[in-house]
Amino acid sequence: MLSEVRFEGVHKIFGTETAVEDLNLRVNAGEFLVLVGPSGCGKTTTLRMLAGLERPSYGRILIGDKLVNNVSPRFRDVAMVFQSYALYPHMNVYDNLAFGMRARGAAGSVIAQRVKETAEVLGLAQLMKRRPSELSGGQRQRVALGRALIRQPQVFLMDEPLSNLDAGLRVQMRAELSRLHERFRVTTLYVTHDQVEAMTMGDRIAVMNSGRLQQVDAPETLYDNPANIFVAGFIGSPRMNFVRGSLTTTRGVAAVEFLGVTTPLSSRAKLTAEAADGAVTVGLRPEDLMWRRAAPPESTLTLSAEVDVVEPMGHEAYVTAVCAGETVTSRFPPRSGVRTRDRIELALNPARLHLFDARSGNTILQRPVAGGAELPRSVGEARVDESEEGRSERQREPHTRSAQSRAEEIS
Ligand SMILES: Nc1ncnc2c1ncn2[C@@H]1O[C@H](COP(=O)(O)OP(=O)(O)O)[C@@H](O)[C@H]1O
Ligand SMILES: [Mg+2]
Repeated sequence: MLSEVRFEGVHKIFGTETAVEDLNLRVNAGEFLVLVGPSGCGKTTTLRMLAGLERPSYGRILIGDKLVNNVSPRFRDVAMVFQSYALYPHMNVYDNLAFGMRARGAAGSVIAQRVKETAEVLGLAQLMKRRPSELSGGQRQRVALGRALIRQPQVFLMDEPLSNLDAGLRVQMRAELSRLHERFRVTTLYVTHDQVEAMTMGDRIAVMNSGRLQQVDAPETLYDNPANIFVAGFIGSPRMNFVRGSLTTTRGVAAVEFLGVTTPLSSRAKLTAEAADGAVTVGLRPEDLMWRRAAPPESTLTLSAEVDVVEPMGHEAYVTAVCAGETVTSRFPPRSGVRTRDRIELALNPARLHLFDARSGNTILQRPVAGGAELPRSVGEARVDESEEGRSERQREPHTRSAQSRAEEIS
């Protein structure tokens, strides 16, 4: 059974500290939603409230149509997998998997059947007699997943389940979790601080910072149209460059000056109501800032810079250079031969600029979702409209909802 999950105006206050502030979030039925953000931003608290391990200070949590604020964890039909996956050390894999069903009084034959199916799905069939100490980290993590999976819950909650695994295993388990979700489509809220996991696993990504939800969108939308400087800087590696800029509008045409160059804004991009002439923060993704010699023709802006650091990554190199007094990182092809203190020319496609209000940090530029002049106009435009409509609806809805839910809470 597929259930959606809703947080409506949810706050969690510990003493004087607000761990989660006015959270309005809907996880669609069958969706894999990744909740991402820096350590301490409120991710675990959010999951624990949904699991019933913490009570919200204000607001409502719904699973399906059922308000669960006062429902105990046992009766929420939610399964949670933690970073530190606690298995029973004295029990073998079979008994670890069967434990929850036995505790709930399921019939022996039903348990045997479900354990068998689950073990097969997770590739544990050959390991049933082993104890946790005789398993590798990845195998243990699979048993922990199996214990959650076997319950066939309405909702899966996973709190950084891969963060204790080494890099190779993480990649493998990432793929495995995505495959499991494809197969069972259980509504999942997956917490990570790893942006690669967020980008690769999520149907949508919810970005949190300091207890506040910053943006919820599909991975590419989030990457191409970050709502603010925090999201822009959090998603993407190497990080987006932020430099000082200045916006001027002459006879209705907006232009931005930064790093010693001036460019009119693309006619396909729209400025938001918050945009005003004056100081702005310009965001440049390292891959949009290229070596002139390797850049495509759309990269019409040329910036001259002096190389500070070259970091060869094998298939590419990150080149940090000083340009008009600001330090920027760009992605270079491998074996460029460029070295520290070389004078170089960087090239930029002006359609790839990001602009943020210098004070609030909010984006003031709605860029076409798929960006770039290489896309057919109609496709690009259709997607802009769709994303803008979606965004304004999302922004409107939570505010009315949270005011309402707070009123209900107080009354
Ligand atoms: N039981 C608690 N008592 C007091 N403060 C807490 C408690 N749980 C979490 N916090 C605080 O709430 C904030 C969010 O914590 P948490 O949800 O664990 O963040 P994350 O999982 O994103 O790292 C942190 O500042 C943390 O110190
Ligand atoms: Mg946490």
